[in-house]
Amino acid sequence: MPLLRSLLIGLSTNKTLRRSIENSGAGRKLSSRFVAGLEVEDALRAAEMLNNFGMTATLDSLGESVATEAEAKTAAEVYHRLLDAIATRKLSANISVKLTQIGLDLSPDLAYTIAAGLTEHARATSNFLRIDMEGSGLTQVTLDMVRHLHAREEYRGHIGIVIQSYLYRSEADIQQLIEEGIRVRLCKGAYQEPPSVAFPQKTDVDTNYVRLSGILLSSPIYHGLATHDEAMIEAAKNYARNKGVAPDQFEFQMLYGVRRDLQRRLIREGYNVRVYIPFGREWYPYFMRRLAERPANVIFLLKNLVRS
Ligand code: FDA
Repeated sequence: MPLLRSLLIGLSTNKTLRRSIENSGAGRKLSSRFVAGLEVEDALRAAEMLNNFGMTATLDSLGESVATEAEAKTAAEVYHRLLDAIATRKLSANISVKLTQIGLDLSPDLAYTIAAGLTEHARATSNFLRIDMEGSGLTQVTLDMVRHLHAREEYRGHIGIVIQSYLYRSEADIQQLIEEGIRVRLCKGAYQEPPSVAFPQKTDVDTNYVRLSGILLSSPIYHGLATHDEAMIEAAKNYARNKGVAPDQFEFQMLYGVRRDLQRRLIREGYNVRVYIPFGREWYPYFMRRLAERPANVIFLLKNLVRS
């Protein structure tokens, strides 16, 4: 279904559709499958529930590509509130942030300053900030910022990055990140990329995922393997078993509302599982990317539209 995927990813940036769906009751109802709620409190409640199931969480205040400095600062405030609330309530949770949400498109200096403030807060509360990876036009600047922040002695271990197995460059990036001791979340990649930078065939993306997860598991750093693909998960488990990597030396990561059965099974088997919890009013682009990942989700959407 590459055509459907491209169509949905294309629609994820359509402003008119976004406005009408985000403001409709039916849209909000549908998004609740993948989004924990509209408010900070909803996300904290979801994290607490997952903690009770033995899982950790990462909280994502939805939003990307802000248009003004004020919006970037407002987005950052939500994350500062989250870090405080996580500490006060003693939740096992960290935060995931997109650089475009804190002003990267407006000014890299602004995004860097805000990211540094968040990393400082993560350090002060013994927590961790993950910078999500966006489209390939932002890969280098994202790597540069994370590496620059991580190079500051006091921030070591408090900031990490995401690498996408669909990009040709990822193996080289991972080698460098490991050398610098930076924690990586490995995912397949959720954006529409040209064949000049990314593998067009899913089988190649998957093969690369397995290869890269082996490299990560062999390193002495605690990394996250983000996938719902049982083939990827089995390959990682086998690799870890064969190489003597203990289950507490890495974690699997999955999205809120996706393969809950698998999340619980991994916990029962003794693996660490972290769930990515998105929340907030700006759920449309995130929701469309989730639909693009699985045709069955579009059928689910259509059924609900007929019912509502
Ligand atoms: P794949 O797409 O091959 O799916 C394998 C199976 O998983 C499917 O057959 C289905 O059963 C199930 N599945 C997958 N997605 C589903 C969905 N939406 N609904 C229902 N079932 C689904 N991307 C990115 O570019 N930058 C980032 O920073 C991140 N961050 C991130 C964090 C976390 C914790 C996760 C899990 C994922 C991301 N991603 C991401 C998204 C990632 O790149 C990728 O698009 C999705 O995880 C889907 O890929 P899978 O590895 O799950 O495999």
